[in-house]
Amino acid sequence: MITEYLKAGDLAADSAALDRAAELLRSGRLVAIPTETVYGLAANALDPNAAKSIYTAKGRPSDNPLIVHVAALSEIPPLVKRVPDALYALAERFWPGPMTVIMEKSELVPYETSGGLETVAVRMPSHPVARELIRRAGVPLAAPSANLSGRPSPTSARHCAADLDGRVDAVLDGGDCEVGVESTVLTLCTDPPTVLRPGAVTLGMLRTVLPEMQLDSGVFTQVAEERIAASPGMKYKHYSPKARVVLVRGGAAEFRQFLAQRQEDGFGALCFEEDAAGLTCPHFAYGRERDAASQAHGVFGALREVDELGWATAYVRILDDDGIGQAVYNRLLRAAGFEEITL
Ligand code: TXA
Ligand code: MG
Repeated sequence: MITEYLKAGDLAADSAALDRAAELLRSGRLVAIPTETVYGLAANALDPNAAKSIYTAKGRPSDNPLIVHVAALSEIPPLVKRVPDALYALAERFWPGPMTVIMEKSELVPYETSGGLETVAVRMPSHPVARELIRRAGVPLAAPSANLSGRPSPTSARHCAADLDGRVDAVLDGGDCEVGVESTVLTLCTDPPTVLRPGAVTLGMLRTVLPEMQLDSGVFTQVAEERIAASPGMKYKHYSPKARVVLVRGGAAEFRQFLAQRQEDGFGALCFEEDAAGLTCPHFAYGRERDAASQAHGVFGALREVDELGWATAYVRILDDDGIGQAVYNRLLRAAGFEEITL
């Protein structure tokens, strides 16, 4: 398959590219699209064959469900058994934006999209290109992150091309993703409702609308193979460069000292911008020390950089964090296979 590269930097100037992408999606094809979180690999969510081809292109296990993207609230009732009141309260505050809500699915949503589950995950993205494309396609779009399964999520069209060239019909370039980590995933099918994956809409923000919201125990701990995960995505190894990744919790001076004592070959450091000048080993900054949003923006690009630089091991400096820092830590833990050192 030859992948088409389409540019959508500007909605008006690049209208023909959007029409082309919408036409491909309507005819059951695959298009990598920009969203405010990460790039998504989109297909018609209501077409079982189109949804199935997403799994093939990504090499994704078929029991890992897809998120269905809509442009308006009016598109949701047909997708679900019943719209819970809580959905409207959450939507009013956080949509369009980086929040995904799991509800009981209707018969309209094929099992290929829901990964065989009786539930469906729905999100209304805020990226103008994603929104316009959903409108022009005229169907809700199933879209997991547009990376090969297991690789870091893509935050630029270049990342999508690196993983999916020749495997998808088109890549729509809408520039770099603003947030940089995937949406917050929560389910309204548990009582109380539960966050399954932290994101830019933080637990604290969600609790201002639903005070009873809880955090699933799998967010910061390894989910046992035997346990049927609340979110199937939790059980897979994720976001991993080929290199070994080790998280190192500590201050700047301790981190410098830790690196200076390393005897092995071929290691490098993923650090904060403030650390860079003091490090003698190869290093790459993934954000600013006290700015978790900047870390979220940079973390996946930095994990990809580790392989481009050919490091055998990446030591990643981390700090205690809440807010969107929880999302960054959740992704880094998975990239590191839960390997963490405290200095
Ligand atoms: O920001 C995002 O959410 C991006 C952009 C493209 O919208 N999409 C994304 O999709 O990150 P994906 O497939 O890489 O991650 C979706 C996660 C997976 O861990 C999946 O297991 C979980 O959401 N999920 C989806 N539907 C679910 C369901 N019905 N029940 C439980 N978990 C579900
Ligand atoms: Mg993903």
